[in-house]
Amino acid sequence: MISYQSAKEEIKQAADIVSVVGQFVQLKKAGKNFVGLCPFHEEKAPSFTVSQDKQMFHCFGCKKGGDIFAFWMAYHSLSFPEALRDLAERYNVQLPEKHFTAEEKKKVDDRETLFKINELAAVYFQKELTHPVRGKPGHDYFKKRSISHSIIEEFHLGYAPKGWDGLKQFLLSRKVSLETALAAGVLKRSEKGHYYDLFRERVMFPIMDLTQKKRVIGFGGRVLDDALPKYVNTPETPLFHKGTCLYGFDASRKAIRETGRAIVVEGYMDCLALRKHGVKEVVATLGTALSETPVRKLKGIGKEAVVVFDADDAGKAAALRTLPIFLNERLSAKAVLLPKGHDPDSFINSSGRDAFSKLLDAAPSLFDFYMDQKLGPGTQNIDQKVSILEEILPVLAKVHNETQRSLYIRRLSEKSEIAESVVLSALGGIKQSSVKDRFKNDIKQQFTSVNANRSIGEIQLLNLLLHYPETVADLRGHHCRLLISDPMIRRIIDVIFDSHGNSKTINFETIQERLDHDEDRVWLREFGFRPAFCSDREVKQAVRDFIAKARKKKIAESFKTAMGDPRAINEILKRKIEAAGPFFGS
Ligand code: CTP
Ligand code: MN
Repeated sequence: MISYQSAKEEIKQAADIVSVVGQFVQLKKAGKNFVGLCPFHEEKAPSFTVSQDKQMFHCFGCKKGGDIFAFWMAYHSLSFPEALRDLAERYNVQLPEKHFTAEEKKKVDDRETLFKINELAAVYFQKELTHPVRGKPGHDYFKKRSISHSIIEEFHLGYAPKGWDGLKQFLLSRKVSLETALAAGVLKRSEKGHYYDLFRERVMFPIMDLTQKKRVIGFGGRVLDDALPKYVNTPETPLFHKGTCLYGFDASRKAIRETGRAIVVEGYMDCLALRKHGVKEVVATLGTALSETPVRKLKGIGKEAVVVFDADDAGKAAALRTLPIFLNERLSAKAVLLPKGHDPDSFINSSGRDAFSKLLDAAPSLFDFYMDQKLGPGTQNIDQKVSILEEILPVLAKVHNETQRSLYIRRLSEKSEIAESVVLSALGGIKQSSVKDRFKNDIKQQFTSVNANRSIGEIQLLNLLLHYPETVADLRGHHCRLLISDPMIRRIIDVIFDSHGNSKTINFETIQERLDHDEDRVWLREFGFRPAFCSDREVKQAVRDFIAKARKKKIAESFKTAMGDPRAINEILKRKIEAAGPFFGS
């Protein structure tokens, strides 16, 4: 078995889980821990908890948790070796090759190769843009679109020149195999097996990941005229999933955190135009519907989103489609409708930043916008109203906040001129099923909750050991293991008893690593992240109580085995009187 241990340890010495997680999730101090909204499931109240002492996180809602590696893997959808390599680079820890099995190494290397090819391609496009002859069309195009030099630099914009094999030759000169370049999505292969450049005569927008290194995961490329398709994007690759990434997110993270707001636009050009005018908290979808994954990431660092979509029908429809996602993820959202014929780029370039800011400030909530759009003038006929109601109600049913929901219902009734009672009863029909689902979940929750079928005493014993490791030796010495009948708690306690020396601290991670079952690890965190059940002053008494109970149990068990053997029973009785002392008879 290859051990990652030393590298892991070194990274953990260098990294602090609170600051690592804090870059992606807004954390607030709560007692000894930090809490925030879980990036892995939808929730309204924060149950995502990060412990600095333990260097672990745990979500009381979805039960995801673990160390910084577990977080990095889950958040960035990576395997362990990939996360290890990422974090090692981030914290300047050398990883000897032997840390990986051949198979793991191949997987990491393959990914790394794709990043390298993208990086090379980005460099190539950037260089071509600066070429006085070949780059001129791109250069002129950016100028025409008011993209400044500093934006070109900051966003590493480039140009893919005319011709079928500029990039291909460049990659060959860098010893890149054409097959891997195909896998990276920058080349294509004809039916006859010829490789050629995917991007030709296009201005290029590299798309970065969210790690500190801002690695290129893919590209968008725009034609210089009205030819179609207007944009070409990297196809799906192991690095690039169009539907789940946002353009410009890497650059806007800081601004979103500072302003608390994320402006969501539809296109590369919109994003860059806003940036150029000093609006920095902006991200763009890549021409796909906004999905949960990016919204959850936005929610991690901002308090609200403002969607600014084009004034055309497609733009409006796209804005409307985002409503259920924002409602589901409970990120409050507003909508800006631009004057006819404009998109954010054309608007800010013609009217300026102040006019744009005014629109942002006056933006209605996305829900109001939704209803205005759906129930505006011209939708007066009954059938239309009914079908709109049918469309809106399932969305409304997802609003969990009662006050908010009743406000929405009132407004819906006003706008549609359908009596509130009718809306309510229609909503009732829809809600019944979702209420039932929630009820079922509550029940399930209870069954899996800490107390279900587990005796309080056993949980308290585990809690005591985890919070007051100085009691381990004493409780172990007095056979307190006997008090545990729950197999899971027993497995956890066995590891604690087995791995703990006499130190005053407990190494949470060692224990976690030594547990074989996933379920045990979840519950170790669940118990460990809950506050101690007794105060510092009550510890001694608690230990005495447990020891007393263990003694009684031991004696009771010896009776059972000694049944029918008078001499043995006599012996036990003697021991009981001697040893039980003040507890005898209690
Ligand atoms: N898009 C795409 N493929 C296309 C058209 C559009 O991937 N064939 C995506 C791009 O990410 C683009 C976004 O959808 O930025 C919005 O498209 P559109 O509104 O047509 O373009 P603009 O962003 O306004 O681009 P421009 O201003 O350069 O015309
Ligand atoms: Mn545009």
